Amino acid sequence: MRKILVLCSSCTGNTEMMAKAIVYYIQKQKHHVVYKSFEFDVIEVEELLDYDLVLIGTHSADDGQIPYEAEDFYDELSEVDLEGRLMGVFGSGESFYDVFCESIEIMGDQLEHLGAKLVPERLKVELEPDNEDIIRCEVFAEKACAMIHKVL
Ligand SMILES: Cc1cc2nc3c(=O)[nH]c(=O)nc-3n(C[C@H](O)[C@H](O)[C@H](O)COP(=O)(O)O)c2cc1C
Repeated sequence: MRKILVLCSSCTGNTEMMAKAIVYYIQKQKHHVVYKSFEFDVIEVEELLDYDLVLIGTHSADDGQIPYEAEDFYDELSEVDLEGRLMGVFGSGESFYDVFCESIEIMGDQLEHLGAKLVPERLKVELEPDNEDIIRCEVFAEKACAMIHKVL
C-alpha cells in the first residue's frame, strides 16, 4: 500500500468532482489516500515529502492564474526538494477564456522545474466533468498509480 495525497482548489465544485473521482479510483486500488482542500485545510509544502505520489488539482481563475487560496503553497514549493518526486496536475477550466486551464500549466511547469516527475498527461476538463471526463479522471489516476509501481 502506497501513500497518496490529492490536493484540490475548486470554487464551484468542478475540479472537486474530478478530485473525488481520482480519490475513489485510488481507494479501489487499496492505496492510502489523503484528500485536502486548499480552501479548508492547512497544507504545508513539507508534507509533500511524506507521500509516494501527490496529485494537485486547481481551477483556473482570472487570466488563468493560480487561485489565490493556492498561491502561498505555489510560492513555497521551491523550499522543498521535489527532485524525482512523483506528482501530477489536473483541473477544470473553460475554453471561452483566452488561456484554457492555464493554472494547471503554471503549476505543472513549476513542479517539473523543481525536478518532480509528472504524470505525462496534464488533465484538463471543460467545466463540469461529464461521464466521459470522469473516465478520463480514472485513467489519469490509473497512470499515476502505474508510475508508483514502476519507480518505487
Ligand atoms: C472570473 C473567472 C475567471 C476565469 N478565468 C479562466 C481562465 O482564465 N481560464 C480558464 O480556463 N477558465 C477560467 N474560468 C473558468 C473556470 O476555471 C471554470 O468555471 C472551472 O470549471 C471552475 O472550476 P471549479 O468549479 O473547480 O472552481 C474563469 C472563471 C471565472 C468565474
